[in-house]
This record gives sequence, structure tokens and C-alpha cells, in this order.
Amino acid sequence: MKSVYIHIPFCDNICSYCDFSKIFTNHNITDNYLNLLEKEINENYKHEKVNTIYIGGGTPSSLKLNELEHLFKIVKKFNITKNLEFTIECNPENTSIDKIKLFKKYGVNRVSIGVQSFNDNILKLLERKHNKTNVFNLINNLKNNGISNINIDLIFGIKDQTLKDIENDLNYFCELDIPHLSYYSLILEENTKLYINKYIEEEDDIIASQYDFICKKLKEFNYIHYEISNFAKKDFYSIHNLTYWNNNEYYGFGLSSHGYINGYRYENTKSITKYLKGKFLINKYKLSKKEAMENELILGLRKLNGIDKLNFKKKFKKDIEEIFNISDLINTKQLNEKYGRIYINEENFFISNEILVNLLLNERSVEDDRSI
Ligand SMILES: C[S@@+](CC[C@H](N)C(=O)[O-])C[C@H]1O[C@@H](n2cnc3c(N)ncnc32)[C@H](O)[C@@H]1O
Ligand code: SF4
Repeated sequence: MKSVYIHIPFCDNICSYCDFSKIFTNHNITDNYLNLLEKEINENYKHEKVNTIYIGGGTPSSLKLNELEHLFKIVKKFNITKNLEFTIECNPENTSIDKIKLFKKYGVNRVSIGVQSFNDNILKLLERKHNKTNVFNLINNLKNNGISNINIDLIFGIKDQTLKDIENDLNYFCELDIPHLSYYSLILEENTKLYINKYIEEEDDIIASQYDFICKKLKEFNYIHYEISNFAKKDFYSIHNLTYWNNNEYYGFGLSSHGYINGYRYENTKSITKYLKGKFLINKYKLSKKEAMENELILGLRKLNGIDKLNFKKKFKKDIEEIFNISDLINTKQLNEKYGRIYINEENFFISNEILVNLLLNERSVEDDRSI
């Protein structure tokens, strides 16, 4: 069983904080891009069963109706399971009812919306082109057309944002009555307008207290904090993203995509010129057993329920304790163990990077062959 990520790099507008792979929407090249995407899929996809498809960006909803239809016809190639999770990322300002009807026609059953904030001043700072009315309308339109498995992305840790702003955002989220929220802390990335304009980062202890507030509030609203940045109602976890955190294999197609197939990690070019010439791949390497085990740890400990010890043993033919110094970290309460699972307590999620560093620094040596 495999997952599939497809990258649509076009954006109608470039936001001040974003360093993802994107270019301005240019309808002279979109169909050409989709033709090359189809070529890449034909050359690489081995017809395995697929249980999740995620079309991300960039802004997939910046495609016109006929371009979206072109994309969905390509997606039909995948040998899908009966209960496929099929997600598309949308922006509030360019997702019309006609586009939603097309999503429905081609089996999209989950939509992820980039909202970032409900506050006009913050939206202006982030250079977003929508307002909260657009978000409310889009969610109504999705629900009215039978798509209720909806995520929104929000951002906290912005210097201009107060705790009251965050509380307001959470109240608006609650009002929307949707099952999933991805809540990211702002990362000030080089090559973004915010960074170039020397925007000041929020202090760590303030970000930590905002995170704490968000976690508590969402718990009151009955959302499960199932991954460091993700909250969901029961049965609405993102199955696609769980593929990544469970260190399972997936295809990545499109500009700058990454994939993990048959023990190999690979990375596509970030250059649209090269991509349109059919030069898709820039890097591909077989993971050593050591790298694969480290990935299992780094990704798995992002989840509230962490890593299943038996599953680790089944995958790597080694006990996790043979490789990583788990017991020391359990003794110092950085890690927990219950029902055969190793995990980080929710209260320690905010310092999970430090915990991982402690684990990896004390890693025991393992023969580093290139086969898993
Ligand atoms: C690559 S964007 C694509 C989604 C869509 N185009 C949009 O604008 O919402 C995915 C999500 O990553 C998050 N993101 C992007 N840049 C970020 C940054 N510098 N810091 C924190 N979150 C960021 C945003 O919440 C965004 O919705
Ligand atoms: S946040 Fe979304 S819309 Fe804004 S530039 Fe990045 S990918 Fe494009």
C-alpha cells in the first residue's frame, strides 16, 4: 500500500512568510506542467494499491476548472483502494462552487484550507488575499456539497499577535465545526519578505506559553492532539500525514516533491525550467539501516502515541532499546513507555527537538549497511 503526494506549484499571490516551492500562476504553462506531471507518473508509478492521495502546493485551487479536470484525469491512473483518502489544498479566495463540484465528481473527500488567521491585521502582515468571510463561505459551500472532512491551517508565534488574537482564532475555528486543525508556529525563513524586511521573531517563552494555551483550549473543545502540530476529532486523523509520521513509503510527484519508495529516498528538482524539460529527479539514495531507524524515531515521536516497539522490531529485526538509549530518557521523564509504546508526553511536545537530540547523541553503534 502506498501514498501519493502531488505538488502544484502555482500561486496567485506570494505570501510574506512562505518559503515553499512555488511560482506565480501562469496559465500559459499550467497544461504543459500537467503533461510533464503525467509523464513523471507514467515513468515511475508501479501500479501498487494507493490508499491516500494528497494534492498540495503552492495552491492547487489556483488552477482553472479545465486545468483541474486535466489534473483529476491524470489522478485516475492510480490503483486506488475502496476507502481512499483524497485531499486537495485550497485557498479561500479562489475555490469556487464549480471547483468544489468538480472535486466531488472526481472523488476528493478531504479539503485542507490555508487560513493562517482570522485577524485582518495579521492577514495583512502575512500578505494573504482573503478575509474570514471567504473562509466561512468556503466551508459552508464544501459542507453543502458533501465534503465535511475539512482541515484548516493556522499560524501562531507571530510577533504582532496577542494571546487574545489566538483565543479569537480558536473561537472562530470552533464555530466552523470542522474535524481537523494544523496549527504551526511561524518559522522565519530566509528568502521570504518577512525575513528580508527584518521582521523580529517572537520570544521562545512566549511561543511556548501560546502553544500551551492552544493545546489546553483545543482539549476543552474535544480535539485530540495526535501529532505535535495537529489536532483532530476521533476518526479524522490525516491518514496521508500518518504515512509520513509512521515512516511508511510514498510517492512524491511534481516540482520539488520528495518520495520514499523501496527503501530509497528521492527528491525532485526545484527548477521549473528543468521540470518542464522532463529532468525531474535531482537526488536519490538508498537509506542505510541506521538512517531508516533514526527516521522511524524522529518521525514516530511526533505522534502522541509514539512508536510501537513490536512494530519497530518487526521492521528492523532489532529491539529499539538496542539502538537508542530509551531507558535513560524514561528515567529523566523525557520519554514515556506504556502498552508497548514509546512516546513523548504532550507536555513535552514543545521541547521534542531537544529530546530527539539527546536520543540521537546517545545512539548505539549499528552496522551501517545499505540494506534494510
Ligand atoms: C505550503 S502551504 C500551502 C497551502 C496553501 N497554498 C496556503 O497558502 O494556505 C501549507 C501550510 O504551511 C504553513 N506554512 C507555510 N509557511 C510557513 C512558515 N514560514 N511558518 C509556519 N507555517 C508555514 C501554512 O500554514 C500553510 O497553510
Ligand atoms: S502560503 Fe500558500 S499561497 Fe502563500 S505563497 Fe505559500 S504556497 Fe502560495
